Amino acid sequence: MEKTVADILVEALPYIREFSGMTIVIKYGGHAMVDEDLKDAFARDITLLKLVGANPVVVHGGGPQINKVLDQMGICSTFVKGMRITDQPTMDVVEMVLGGKVNKSIVAQINQAGGRAVGLSGKDGELIKARKMTIMHKETADSPPEIIDPGLVGEVTAVNPRIINTLTREGFIPIIAPVGTGDNGETFNINADLVASHVATALKAGRLIMVTDVDGVKDQEDNLLSSLNAHAAATLIDEGVIAGGMIPKVNCALDAISWGVNKVHIINGRRRHALLLELLTDKGIGTEFKA
Ligand SMILES: Nc1ncnc2c1ncn2[C@@H]1O[C@H](COP(=O)(O)OP(=O)(O)OP(=O)(O)O)[C@@H](O)[C@H]1O
Ligand SMILES: [Mg+2]
Repeated sequence: MEKTVADILVEALPYIREFSGMTIVIKYGGHAMVDEDLKDAFARDITLLKLVGANPVVVHGGGPQINKVLDQMGICSTFVKGMRITDQPTMDVVEMVLGGKVNKSIVAQINQAGGRAVGLSGKDGELIKARKMTIMHKETADSPPEIIDPGLVGEVTAVNPRIINTLTREGFIPIIAPVGTGDNGETFNINADLVASHVATALKAGRLIMVTDVDGVKDQEDNLLSSLNAHAAATLIDEGVIAGGMIPKVNCALDAISWGVNKVHIINGRRRHALLLELLTDKGIGTEFKA
């Protein structure tokens, strides 16, 4: 029998009760921000979560948006092994795009939907401290590792959640751009998955949901894995089945689980209202992580 609206609302009741007062960190991938309609649906989902008593905190990415502006501005970056090196001119654009355009468009859309969002970068209230990252690269599984210097790319050394707690307590929804400050005041671009796992841990979040542009983690045959543990993930990374932007995402998801976040999921933001379907209905979607 077809479910009525009332059935669906009643189905949501136990979830709403469970999430009341719970911090839910949502990583909103730049790749999921494809069109206005989907972005609007996402903004409404976040607003609804707040209004039913959860404390959503959004950490956003913005890879495609940064690349577009770098191209428009004619900034020719250096690439090493397919990876863009973040020199100072590139970092300036990264900070402008992430902390400016991308951050404020999410803020505005949530406010339009009736929420009260406030945009922050990791610099505000010393939210995210960082240090320079070096990357080990192996051409093939057997070749010796090479060290790559990605430029002004950071890893998180500390999260000071005070500013988030202050905003949340006052009814605001914090929207965080993944930029952090080094010990000497340098600005670092940080992978947003990394920021999300650290922020979720610091806030003792009950959930971390990573919203991206695929249904979840896929196996060799392109089948969706509805759950994934550390051991299986390591094998899939070694085999090259998990690649590119999915590698930091999976590692951050597993870190968050091991650091005490109860449940971590990857879901497809290209499905309208994916967040509500995941959180408020019986039908789990995407990939759930296990220790
Ligand atoms: N095994 C896999 N299963 C699913 N996706 C995979 C896998 N291996 C690699 N990927 C890639 O990972 C991508 C998701 O990571 P990506 O970094 O591109 O997006 P994002 O993190 O959501 O956005 P942003 O980095 O801008 O915040 C997918 O689009 C897919 O192409
Ligand atoms: Mg990514």
